[in-house]
Amino acid sequence: MILRQLFDKESSTYTYLIGANGVGAIIDPVLGNLERDAKLAGELGLKLAYSLDTHVHADHVTAAGTLREQFGVTTIVGKKSSAACGDKKLGDGDKITIGGITLSVIETPGHTDDSVCYYAASENVLFTGDTLLIRGCGRTDFQNGSPQDLYHSVKRKLFVLPEETVVCPGHDYRGQTRSTIGEEMHFNPRLRTHVTEEQFAEIMNNLNLPDPKLMDVAVPANQNCGID
Ligand code: FE2
Repeated sequence: MILRQLFDKESSTYTYLIGANGVGAIIDPVLGNLERDAKLAGELGLKLAYSLDTHVHADHVTAAGTLREQFGVTTIVGKKSSAACGDKKLGDGDKITIGGITLSVIETPGHTDDSVCYYAASENVLFTGDTLLIRGCGRTDFQNGSPQDLYHSVKRKLFVLPEETVVCPGHDYRGQTRSTIGEEMHFNPRLRTHVTEEQFAEIMNNLNLPDPKLMDVAVPANQNCGID
């Protein structure tokens, strides 16, 4: 499988270009980086077929709608997504095949109620969006987020995957690029084995983070796949 991790400087978002056998997909594309990412897909001989979002983002505008307009991609979002513009809304058990690679959808509400992860079991790779970050996790204080839901999503649906599964997160603010399920089980200060649901909720409910700079613009834009 071809796998490229691409970074958005403004929002510290990771976008992933994946593909095989001439077919490509892009996970969490950022509108401002579309030219860069589409050029890379072309250079690697990948015809973009899908754009997948892990959730309706509050910190950047998705390139999904523009990719559909320019390249005819199918846009995929989670089953509970408020993005009415998604071509397909997928949930637990649904699969997408990209040039022979199968991605399974895992619904992981908590950061937002529409969050999903995409799991390429044959490649041992998990795209976690903001559900599970390296030594952290997405905030749970807006967009119908819930610490309880996030805790159970991670513990019951992600920490049951093989420990060597590579975690490709939706962001990193400290320059880290990837992790593994095993590392997060042992070293994630919020979610490691001995942290209880109550302790986790206590941490999450006291983060007191400011709203993302682009929130008022990004959320409504993303509900329309990033098209004005
Ligand atoms: Fe997010």
